[in-house]
Amino acid sequence: MPTTKKIALITGANKGIGFEVSKQIARTGVTVLMGARNKAAGEEAVAKLVAEGLDARFLHLDITDAATVAAAAAKIEADFGQLDILVNNAGIIDHADGPPSTASLDAVDRTLRTNFFGPIAVTQALLPLLRKAPAARIVNVSSGLGSLTQNGDPNYFGAFAKFLGYNSSKAALNMLTVQLAYELRDTPIKVNSADPGYTATDLNENRGTQTIEEGSAETIRLALLPDDGPTGTYSDKDGIVPW
Ligand SMILES: NC(=O)c1ccc[n+]([C@@H]2O[C@H](COP(=O)([O-])OP(=O)(O)OC[C@H]3O[C@@H](n4cnc5c(N)ncnc54)[C@H](OP(=O)(O)O)[C@@H]3O)[C@@H](O)[C@H]2O)c1
Repeated sequence: MPTTKKIALITGANKGIGFEVSKQIARTGVTVLMGARNKAAGEEAVAKLVAEGLDARFLHLDITDAATVAAAAAKIEADFGQLDILVNNAGIIDHADGPPSTASLDAVDRTLRTNFFGPIAVTQALLPLLRKAPAARIVNVSSGLGSLTQNGDPNYFGAFAKFLGYNSSKAALNMLTVQLAYELRDTPIKVNSADPGYTATDLNENRGTQTIEEGSAETIRLALLPDDGPTGTYSDKDGIVPW
């Protein structure tokens, strides 16, 4: 059934940036579907937002598992008939990833499957429902490490972080943003990449220098863009990031 209340899906919402993005978007009155591959962790995260009086619901979603992607899309269609906001947030860094001379091929493969193929599968499954919303937003949670320009700059503060699989996966995710924004240029749908910045989460054993609130800000802004907002961009909380 079409609904007037906006519906958002955040992937990897049980912790870290995905959890914070879910909370902040739900606080604006949006119904938030919290995607998680682990049912117990997902339901625990949902319970925290429901305890705050927010409209949050668990959605079982492993973005590398075609069956759960299809089931999640079917459930959103049956329950809501449309999707207003998709945040492709779920991502990994693999411990066997590393610089080009030593990165494990299996690790590069695993990383691309989650960080690149996952968002493609989720986006393709949900695009029919995003088209049914009046003005949908898609945010791909990228990274400054996905910037080819910054990877080639020895003075970039993240220059030490040469993870062939991870950095390539985010560069590829940026290509999804650019190409999808182009494909949807004559629709009200906006597609953008967010760089959270180096943020203390489990992804980096909490070594990141920003708080989770700071690291979530740009993703939230892009998820709630007004109709005159941009599409096909790559930005962090301080502005445009070079591709
Ligand atoms: N933290 C940073 O400094 C930083 C910087 C730039 C970009 N990012 C990006 O920000 C996003 C969120 O990362 P984070 O820092 O919040 O990391 P995090 O705390 O480790 O959270 C990652 C989330 O992704 C989920 N996930 C991983 N693989 C999944 C799959 N196959 N299906 C569904 N969910 C899956 C995890 O679920 P489980 O709990 O089940 O593992 C978890 O909920 C990632 O895309 C990351 O690359 C982070």
